[in-house]
Order: sequence, then C-alpha cells, then structure tokens
Amino acid sequence: MLSRRAFLRTTGALGTSVIAARPSLASVSAASAAVADRTAEEVAQDESYWRAIQEAYAPDRTLINLNNGHHSPAPRIVHEALKHYLDSENQLPVYYASLINRNIERVRRALAAEFGCDPEELAITRNASESLQIAQDGQDLKEGDEIVTTDQDYPRMLTTWDQRARRDKIKVTRIQFPVPTTQQDLYERFEKAITPRTKVLHFCHVTNLTGQLFPVQRLSRLARERGIVTIVDGAHAAAHFPFKLRDLECDYNGTSLHKWLCCPVGNGFLYVRKENIAKTWPLQAAAARQTSDIRKFEEIGTSPAATHAAIAEALAFHQAIGVERKAARLRYLTLRWANALKSNPRIRIHSSLEPGQTWGLGTVGIDGIDARALAQFMMDKYRIVTVGLVGGQPPAQVYDYQGLRVTPNIYTTLEEIDTFVAAMEDALRNGLPKTTTTA
Ligand SMILES: Cc1ncc(COP(=O)(O)O)c(C=O)c1O
Repeated sequence: MLSRRAFLRTTGALGTSVIAARPSLASVSAASAAVADRTAEEVAQDESYWRAIQEAYAPDRTLINLNNGHHSPAPRIVHEALKHYLDSENQLPVYYASLINRNIERVRRALAAEFGCDPEELAITRNASESLQIAQDGQDLKEGDEIVTTDQDYPRMLTTWDQRARRDKIKVTRIQFPVPTTQQDLYERFEKAITPRTKVLHFCHVTNLTGQLFPVQRLSRLARERGIVTIVDGAHAAAHFPFKLRDLECDYNGTSLHKWLCCPVGNGFLYVRKENIAKTWPLQAAAARQTSDIRKFEEIGTSPAATHAAIAEALAFHQAIGVERKAARLRYLTLRWANALKSNPRIRIHSSLEPGQTWGLGTVGIDGIDARALAQFMMDKYRIVTVGLVGGQPPAQVYDYQGLRVTPNIYTTLEEIDTFVAAMEDALRNGLPKTTTTA
C-alpha cells in the first residue's frame, strides 16, 4: 500500500481534494454497516439512517424538489470530485485531461461490474438521449422495415424514429396501453404488433410518465426468437432499483447516470450486446479499425474528462448505501404520499402500488384540475417542484390521463413528502386560485 505522502507524490494535484472528501463516504459506509443485519424494508423506515444520507447532499431546502427524475443533485463528495477534476484539467487541459482519461477504463469496469455486463459492452456517454440515438440511428434499416414502440416512450426517442421514418421511409408502429397495466398485457400488445417486416422493438424499462414497468426479458426473448433487435430505454432504471443488464437479455440499453445514480449532469452509458457492436454505426464517425470496439461510440471530439471521471465517486457513494436499500427507501417515500391520498375519490394514481412495480417515480392526478396548473400551484404556494403531465399528439407522447409526476430522491425528508400531501389536500379542498396559470 502507498503511504498518503507517496500517493500524493504519484498522483500530483489529482489526489488531494478527493482524499479530503472521504469522511462523508466513510460516514455513509458506517451508517450502512450499523444496519447490515436488517432488511432493506426495515431500514427504509429508519430516519436516523436516512439522516446520514440527507447530510451527504447539499440541496436548497427552501424548495422541495420532487422532480429528481429530470436530473438529480449529486452528493457533496461527487460534486467535490467533479470540481477537483475540473480544476486539475484547467491547469493544462491537453495534459491533465489525457491523464484523467487514462483512468476512465477503471470507470468502465466499475460500471460494468455494478450493472452486470462485460466492460467491452459498455460505452460511457453524455446521457440516455445520446445512448439511445446511437442505437436507433445506428441500425441498417431500409424502406418498408418496421419498428414497434409505444405512445408513452420518451419524446426525443419518438422524434428520432419519426425522423428516420421521414428519411428512410421505415414504418413506425406505436402501441397504446392503459396505466397502470400488467406485464402480461404489455407483452401481448407487442406480440400482436409484430409483423414479418418488424426489425426493432423499442420500449422503456420503466417509463418517464408513470414508471410503468415493462417485461424486458420476456420481450427480448420474443424478439430474439424472431430475429428482431431490442432497444431498451433504461433512462429511469439504472441505480433506481436492482437488476443486472445480462438478465434483461436485450440488445441495447441506454441510460442517464445524472438521474438515479446522482452523477454530475452529462453522464450516461450505452450497453451493446457484444455481437451487435460491429454492425451498429456510431453517431459520430469512427475509424474502420474500431468497428468491433465499444469505444467507437465514445468518439465525440473534445469534451470534459472531469464529468466522466466523477462517475467513480458517484458509484462509490451508491454502493456505500446499496441499491436494495435505495429502492426500498424510494418505494417507502412514494407509498407515503400515495397511501395518504388514494382514498379520496377525486385522486387518480396512475402508477402501480403493487410490490416490485414502483419505486421512486409515481404519478397522481386530481379529477377536474389541469395537471399543468396544479404543478404551478405547487410551486407558487408551496415551493414544491414537480412536473405536470398532459398528453400531446404524434410525434410527441400520446396518453389520455393527466397528473403530477412525483420523483423524490434518497435525500428527501418525510416532512417534504408530508408537505406535498398537505398541498394536494389543499387543492382538493379549495381548488386552485383563479390566477394560477398553466405556464
Ligand atoms: C424514459 C427516458 N428516456 C430518455 C430520456 C433522456 O434522458 P437525457 O435527457 O438525460 O438524455 C429521459 C429523460 O428524462 C427519459 O425519462
């Protein structure tokens, strides 16, 4: 083992502030060690454990952030690591960025180990949009080929298919489904929509709208039996609830790491099943010698090394808690507001409350109140940040329900959840002030 002084000599400026930030990681690890003999569900209700986690973040608590699903704040140590790598890079960018980039292979291996794939199948990207567009635009498709997706897939991904339809004359079939629905229902809807010309199935692991969970492994098997490729939008899955990529059996999986892994913004990954790497075109051109190399999807020109380097600290923080504990706490927070509201006849909960279906992403509407106005009311009166969902027309998402999407995170307090419940009860009892806009 290197002594601290020898370590600093070897790494130069790169080592110092990360070492200074360690106590916070140590306190989270110590808190986890102290509850190691209890189930994740028991720990989910232990406020003293979650106090240690809350202290690891630096949120603005004059606001209540229930839109962590967009992208989440990073824990302090992750933000410190980012700043440290940025400072280091700025000393002499070409030199220090290349030093940092030499270590990115370690980040790839750590991500692959956490999410369950071979490191040679995992490209580090800037977000889920980039990852999924590599998969979508990287397919050789010709006029008349068909892809099957859903009306509730992510707007940017639907737009990507719409552009391919305009450019390459492929046919895009969009399945509709009620929410919440069952895995079996979703499976059957896809099965019915497949034709001999279907080349791709594209669907979410869980949707951004209601957190509807999809039967990823069953759909992947169905597709593979018929020579069809599967692209899974995993933007809301990674580090949100437990799973391993290899168990999903899909061909591609794209995620954002600035959502549930709490990385600095600008992080994601793309999983590509090994046999598909060579036949997938990268979004930005790569040399022919890279054809079978997962790194060809990372050829994006000059970009910050610091952002990807900080993934290592976010992973260490995530692992110090453990995904089972995290998922159980997120579910506990969701059930706390959902159970408090659900008996009111005007409340519509659009997410399943069954075990194993929903964690930190739930959607709730009030009959007779526009969801965008409700979101504005939450902000105006209670300083609660949520997002109001109202369906649109193709190529946008199409759905016939309305609601607030509520995404707490592991630093959210019970008081914040209870304030949200009180705000909903206020809206139910008194309606919204006439001046509330739907902006
Ligand atoms: C289901 C889904 N897919 C893709 C994306 C795109 O993620 P990003 O904006 O991080 O690229 C999002 C973002 O919210 C999403 O919810």
